Amino acid sequence: MAELKYIPGFGNECASEDPRCPGALPEGQNNPQVCPYNLYAEQLSGSAFTCPRSTNKRSWLYRILPSVCHKPFESIDQGHVTHNWDEVDPDPNQLRWKPFEIPKASQKKVDFVSGLHTLCGAGDIRSNNGLAIHIFLCNTSMGNRCFYNSDGDFLIVPQKGKLLIYTEFGKMLVQPNEICVIQRGMRFSIDVFEENRGYILEVYGVHFELPDLGPIGANGLANPRDFLIPVAWYEDRQVPGGYTVINKYQGKLFAAKQNVSPFNVVAWHGNYTPYKYNLENFMVINSVAFDHADPSIFTVLTAKSVRPGVAVADFVIFPPRWGVADKTFRPPYYHRNCMSEFMGLIKGHYEAKQGEFLPGGGSLHSSMTPHGPDADCFEKASKAKLAPERIADGTMAFMFESSLSMAVTKWGLKSSSCLDENYYKCWEPLKSHFTPESRKPAGPN
Ligand SMILES: [Fe+2]
Repeated sequence: MAELKYIPGFGNECASEDPRCPGALPEGQNNPQVCPYNLYAEQLSGSAFTCPRSTNKRSWLYRILPSVCHKPFESIDQGHVTHNWDEVDPDPNQLRWKPFEIPKASQKKVDFVSGLHTLCGAGDIRSNNGLAIHIFLCNTSMGNRCFYNSDGDFLIVPQKGKLLIYTEFGKMLVQPNEICVIQRGMRFSIDVFEENRGYILEVYGVHFELPDLGPIGANGLANPRDFLIPVAWYEDRQVPGGYTVINKYQGKLFAAKQNVSPFNVVAWHGNYTPYKYNLENFMVINSVAFDHADPSIFTVLTAKSVRPGVAVADFVIFPPRWGVADKTFRPPYYHRNCMSEFMGLIKGHYEAKQGEFLPGGGSLHSSMTPHGPDADCFEKASKAKLAPERIADGTMAFMFESSLSMAVTKWGLKSSSCLDENYYKCWEPLKSHFTPESRKPAGPN
């Protein structure tokens, strides 16, 4: 496969034409009486028409046939996709999952859509407020099937296997340690090359933004230029009665047939596009004297709520970096948080848990549920010599953090059979080191 081209930048106004059709974008207007090459003009709106300019999102697509050329949508099997947050009783415990099992292609062919499994979530799709966390487990390309989500944006974190994603805006290759965002309404189809696993953060009714940097300044964390947008690519492919468009609408799956590939956009312009980002490009900021900065310094993208400073969901990573803090317990501290924290591991070993938190698994620490380093980590880190050290080399852990209190699905708690019933035991060996007779810490401090 020839190397794919991308447009760098985040949230910019872009314009792209498939090089086979130069001049496909109309000049000076969006909607000429007849478009160049006799294409159809179609606007895709990602925000209310009247949103302030800073949050207004739309793109114009110039395509061989408009998206409306399809048979009626009909309800299909929901598989493990749900937005029912009352399937099982709430569970405030610390939860940890072993790696989610990928079905073998020789036993059952599963594509990206049939391999979607909702793990947890909260909020209400119809009022555009909330989120869901899904696990995808698949082994087969989507072929003549595409998907679009009427409910929200997908932030996709592949953990095993690369994804070749066809979108209406062009093609993206997304490998583990990269992420991509496919925003509401955008049609896409995924080719896979092996057994694949990954995580999806879905946010309803809002879009991901780069976090404000405050006193950090104009640069740092995820830099805008490192985000990559596909370039226009089309296929004029007839599939008589045989192309299936799958739509997630109000949490349910529907399918419609059409006669052509939906990837028939010859040119587009606008600021509402899919994009990808390589996590290696994250510019890490950390404590260089003592104590910890809060983990918000590791935020890659945020989906804001209407409350200032409060996110529907943040996407946060824990990348390789130096640990240099003096007189400090360096692993993540013990805490209880009003936010809900789902963590996943793309590769390597997370520094606070040496045990059963494995790539392709996950953990959920819900609102105000206490958590922190396991006993072994506490003992070692309390006695460690505080020389500068590399942390998390070869590792990429991440967190989906939400201000909403998430419910876990029946699949998450039961039918996935991946819940680790022994998680709580990692803290059981923690013992009191209290020395009332002396203020002096017993450790090397
Ligand atoms: Fe935490």
